[in-house]
Amino acid sequence: MAIIASGAEAVIALEGNTIIKTRIQKRYRLKEIDESLRRERTRIEAKLISEARRCGVPTPIIRNVTDFEIKMEYIEGTALKNIITPQLAEKTGELVGRLHTCGIVHGDLTTSNIMFKDGKLYLIDFGLAYLDKTLEARGVDVHVLFQTFESTHENHEELTESFKKGYARTFQGAEEVMERVREIEARGRYA
Ligand SMILES: Nc1ncnc2c1ncn2[C@@H]1O[C@H](COP(=O)(O)OP(=O)(O)O)[C@@H](O)[C@H]1O
Ligand SMILES: [Mg+2]
Repeated sequence: MAIIASGAEAVIALEGNTIIKTRIQKRYRLKEIDESLRRERTRIEAKLISEARRCGVPTPIIRNVTDFEIKMEYIEGTALKNIITPQLAEKTGELVGRLHTCGIVHGDLTTSNIMFKDGKLYLIDFGLAYLDKTLEARGVDVHVLFQTFESTHENHEELTESFKKGYARTFQGAEEVMERVREIEARGRYA
């Protein structure tokens, strides 16, 4: 077993073709509270990964869930940030559109949390995901992704335009959300 990533919330280990994501203890929290929070987040993350999959969004197959640990399929590919093109941005739009249609907000849509394997994109890291159908939640989701387009890619306008095409194809409320994204951007500029 090898540790392949270690963040503030979780440690990611690889064992064969299985990823083990373990939510780590936060020592500044009271033990009981810490444990119930981690148990709850682990349960919700696993649930939403499966639910997204049922809604037609490729995600890792969940193999097992215990209190603080999710075992899931290893997506042996590369992160979208390394290979983004307008065509893949459009595909990303389709996936996010399906996710939002399903009532799920990802909560951390970056090009590091989207994997590419065998010509197909997968959403991973539902650690901050939640059920929400509001324009604001969906708008922030898209805004965060656009910010990663902007910070890591030269031709970000082409990428956002392509994303919108895919998003509108799979999500009825796309135009309204895009309007909200523009408002969120404006807020950011004048804040
Ligand atoms: N199912 C998976 N398949 C392939 N790589 C994964 C998988 N889950 C996590 N990873 C890798 O581990 C990294 C961190 O996992 P992630 O779920 O994003 O945790 P964090 O909440 O710490 O960002 C990801 O960016 C990715 O590189
Ligand atoms: Mg992540």
